[in-house]
Amino acid sequence: MIETRELSHTYQPGSPFESAAIRSISLTIPDGTFAAIIGATGSGKTTLIQHFNGLIKPTSGQVLIDGNDINGSHADKRAVRCSVGMVFQYPEHQLFEETVGKDIAFGPKNLGLSEAECNSRVREALSRVGLEYETFAARSPFELSGGQMRRVAVAGVLAMRPSTLILDEPTAGMDPRGRRELLDLLDALHHQGATIVLVSHSMEDVANRARHVFVLSKGALAMEGAPGDIFAQADSLRALGLDVPDIARLRDQLRSRGIDLPEDAYTHEPMRRALAALWNKRGRIGENGGAAT
Ligand SMILES: Nc1ncnc2c1ncn2[C@@H]1O[C@H](COP(=O)(O)OP(=O)(O)O)[C@@H](O)[C@H]1O
Ligand SMILES: [Mg+2]
Repeated sequence: MIETRELSHTYQPGSPFESAAIRSISLTIPDGTFAAIIGATGSGKTTLIQHFNGLIKPTSGQVLIDGNDINGSHADKRAVRCSVGMVFQYPEHQLFEETVGKDIAFGPKNLGLSEAECNSRVREALSRVGLEYETFAARSPFELSGGQMRRVAVAGVLAMRPSTLILDEPTAGMDPRGRRELLDLLDALHHQGATIVLVSHSMEDVANRARHVFVLSKGALAMEGAPGDIFAQADSLRALGLDVPDIARLRDQLRSRGIDLPEDAYTHEPMRRALAALWNKRGRIGENGGAAT
């Protein structure tokens, strides 16, 4: 479980460039959940998540992993880095070894694991991201497609066997198919028991996958809740420079014309079911003021 208590971070304090990036954020991300963090550019998303594995230190406040203050004097930073895996924005830019296998083994090797153990972790990580060991391990990462490179970068983090995976805008710059595949991979990892924290500016990605959404605005936690509750507040989101998913907008437009749609019709499947149910009793809609026309 990741918890922050009144967490604040100011870059370059005391200088003319002083910038309060996050302000007094208190939140809890329970074990095993799929959480999303959304917010406009510059709202503090990257700064916030970099605290979750101790990459940067709070200016004030605390970060607790399973109840332990990770910046406390007795904290085991190494254990934290292993249990909370971080996939940076454009993680493929950090691939550097001559083969995919060596790149993925880099972290486990640094842990001092044996050659055999490193190898088995490479196999496991590649298979988890859907790449075949035989085809990919000996290849140069720089010969791969963009989507494959990103998978290799994710595999490098998975090779540390983290229980929590944090990803900063992992679908940025990907084509629709690559996005879907990567998000499906996150879903699969989540179902295998991993806690996922997804930073995204895509409302669609968040609506379809996350169970809990945190909305940042100007460094503060502005909203938090289940996606259905968050995406029911289109006006508040717009005021924060965000939008609702297309399907949520459609739901709100149809509702304003008197068509009865359930709260959860903000993703494709519930909307499809709701429309099919309305279609099946369309006679009755017609009688109730002609909404179906
Ligand atoms: N290394 C840095 N030095 C100074 N200011 C920074 C640095 N990184 C981010 N900031 C500032 O902190 C604020 C939050 O940035 P960031 O956490 O990157 O937001 P987001 O990820 O939501 O776009 C922005 O105003 C940004 O300009
Ligand atoms: Mg960012």
